Amino acid sequence: MLRAVAIVLLFVLCTGGLSWAGEKAAGDRSISASRAIQLERLVRQDCGSCHGMTLKGGLGPDIRAETLNGKDAEAITQIILNGVPDTPMPPWRPLMTEAEARWIADYLLAGGSK
Ligand code: HEC
Repeated sequence: MLRAVAIVLLFVLCTGGLSWAGEKAAGDRSISASRAIQLERLVRQDCGSCHGMTLKGGLGPDIRAETLNGKDAEAITQIILNGVPDTPMPPWRPLMTEAEARWIADYLLAGGSK
């Protein structure tokens, strides 16, 4: 009987602990590992379709860390979200959150190795 109670208690503790961790992850604005993989693919494929497969320029300019260097991560985030009017650079706001655009900006500035 005591053992059964202990097992139930353990179970509640574990599941309670897990759901708490889940809420915390959703509450802060961090990017999950699986979303990071999707964003990385998006940068290579979608951004790469204009900026070149290695991001060193094509229709759009070179956006590797070397050339972006000195640019503010926040400014890059805004360019990604809003695009550049009257140029082919589209706004990505409909497709990603601000936190995700910021992740991409940091990713680019880190040399795509983040
Ligand atoms: C349809 C083509 C196209 C796609 C797709 C595209 N871009 Fe661009 N991007 C451009 C063009 C063209 C410019 C230059 C705009 C200008 O003349 O200022 C640009 C400019 C930029 C700049 C500013 C560079 C600088 O030095 O000022 C950044 C950063 C950027 N793009 C990031 C991205 C990212 C990240 C993605 C993917 C989420 C992306 N772009 C997708 C065409 C594109």
